[in-house]
Amino acid sequence: MTLLEREPTEGLPVARKAVLRTARLTLRAPRPDDAKAIKALINDRRIAENTASIPHPYTLKDARAFIANAAGKPAFVITRDDGRLIGGGGIDLRPRGYEIGYWIGVPYWGNGYATEAARALVDHAFRDLDLTELLAGARVTNPASRRVLEKCGFQWTHVVLQRVVALNSSAPSDRFRLDRGLWASLRSWGKAELID
Ligand SMILES: CC(C)(COP(=O)(O)OP(=O)(O)OC[C@H]1O[C@@H](n2cnc3c(N)ncnc32)[C@H](O)[C@@H]1OP(=O)(O)O)[C@@H](O)C(=O)NCCC(=O)NCCS
Repeated sequence: MTLLEREPTEGLPVARKAVLRTARLTLRAPRPDDAKAIKALINDRRIAENTASIPHPYTLKDARAFIANAAGKPAFVITRDDGRLIGGGGIDLRPRGYEIGYWIGVPYWGNGYATEAARALVDHAFRDLDLTELLAGARVTNPASRRVLEKCGFQWTHVVLQRVVALNSSAPSDRFRLDRGLWASLRSWGKAELID
């Protein structure tokens, strides 16, 4: 069986990179001393309620558990050139396949950081991890995330009812997909954006 035929449950190959760099950002593995900064930014309903699995309130214990669990996985914190931690993101194995997820601390919204980080995650998934498709989800009430995904080339597929831990309930969520072929085409055209 080749890597391309790999079943999602078989885990990611070891081409995982510890650090991804973009024009303005560094995505690196979380460290124990990031716990306070992660908690300070993520402990906000506007973040938790737009993700499937971030609890609210979010405690230091949650941050430490996230950091411990991230070891060896494509899970990153997002930092700026000034060293400030501004968010997080990664590629997770979910029941439907590999999914990207990301969050940016509220004070840093609207600067293009999520788009820049999501593109780095997408490139990492296809170029280094050899995935054939990437999935993503965004609540239907989250146009900013939808826009980020569209700018990365993701295409809408359908709507599901998604469990949202912070709501202790489920909410409608748009589902998106990007396959390796489309990603490669966008790359070769030098066109990272489908819509503008
Ligand atoms: C979604 C999120 C990551 C966006 O972060 P960000 O750094 O502000 O995003 P960017 O600046 O890269 O891009 C946001 C895009 O959405 C657009 N946008 C923002 N609010 C919008 C709204 N209410 N309606 C329509 N578009 C909107 C922006 O104009 C921008 O698009 P543009 O570049 O074409 O102008 C951030 O709001 C967040 O962390 N939300 C909570 C967690 C979350 O939703 N995670 C994603 C789901 S896993």
